[in-house]
Amino acid sequence: TWTPASIVDDAVAAIRAQVGDAAVLCGLSGGVDSAVAAALVHRAIGDQLTCAFVDHGLLRAGEREQVMQDFPRITGIKLVVADAEDRFLSALAGVTEPETKRKIIGREFIRTFEQTVRDIDADAHIEYLVQGTLYPDVVESGGGEGAANIKSHHNVGGLPDDLQFKLIEPLRTLFKDEVRAVGTELGLPDEMVWRHPFPGPGLGIRIIGEVTKERLDILRQADAIARHELTESGLDREIWQFPIVLLADVRSVGVQGDQRTYGHPVVLRPVTSEDAMTADWGRLPYDLLEKISTRITNEVREINRVVVDVTSKPPGTIEWE
Ligand code: XMP
Repeated sequence: TWTPASIVDDAVAAIRAQVGDAAVLCGLSGGVDSAVAAALVHRAIGDQLTCAFVDHGLLRAGEREQVMQDFPRITGIKLVVADAEDRFLSALAGVTEPETKRKIIGREFIRTFEQTVRDIDADAHIEYLVQGTLYPDVVESGGGEGAANIKSHHNVGGLPDDLQFKLIEPLRTLFKDEVRAVGTELGLPDEMVWRHPFPGPGLGIRIIGEVTKERLDILRQADAIARHELTESGLDREIWQFPIVLLADVRSVGVQGDQRTYGHPVVLRPVTSEDAMTADWGRLPYDLLEKISTRITNEVREINRVVVDVTSKPPGTIEWE
């Protein structure tokens, strides 16, 4: 039977055998999976590994700062940050179709990694790219046997055909609970291992409609409030994930301080789950919902309505796109 320790030992041996003394790049998304994948590869090959955190402009408030501060300190892994906001936002301009967004984001990630490799060391000959792909990502991107393509995960179905790297995906057979156990086994702290999952395409798939900087800023504010209040309530661990979705092409009439408003709705999408393959909608207490709703509508000028998604998966998915 598998234990976290045996998974680590097997993966370390496999990575060493695969990589030899080649240089390796790992893309970090700020989520659990890529952090655990990086720590695992680091255990196997040490300084041959460099991590790249892509700031694609689709991040949550404070995320870049937090990763830059905590990740190298906790793991001892070399980290470079790629400023790629312009690249991603121009590539996404005018695009509304979810799969098209995902394909563009997947492609731009790879282009950014290629650029990063050229920037950090043209002589390093980085041959491999580590990705924190999990088993459910493979299945839902249509990679499993006889599986339908539900969504192209940015690091599976969204990869360009002319990929210049060989892939290392040490978590490809694992579910999220196993990944967390492996993270703990590798000595990663709880605040890293128990972070809510955050998709690589980030807020780009939580804006229904075109992704623009202005809309991202609106969503970032609402998201920060909701996340803060969830953490304050102590329900962080019970809730698997709490996407906030901006219905950017929808407007409704409201009233605030005797003034008519014509703003956008946001959707709160709290879910509980074991592995994200199925999920239930999270029953947040009414007083918490009220607090989040009041704060968002008071503090984010462009939002005048807050609604709650009460759909399980299936038939809904966790993310709206
Ligand atoms: P869905 O929306 O398919 O999401 O129910 C299941 C889980 O996967 C995450 N997700 C992604 N993670 N790249 C990722 O790294 C992606 O392209 C992607 N799409 C969805 C989602 O946040 C949830 O945890």
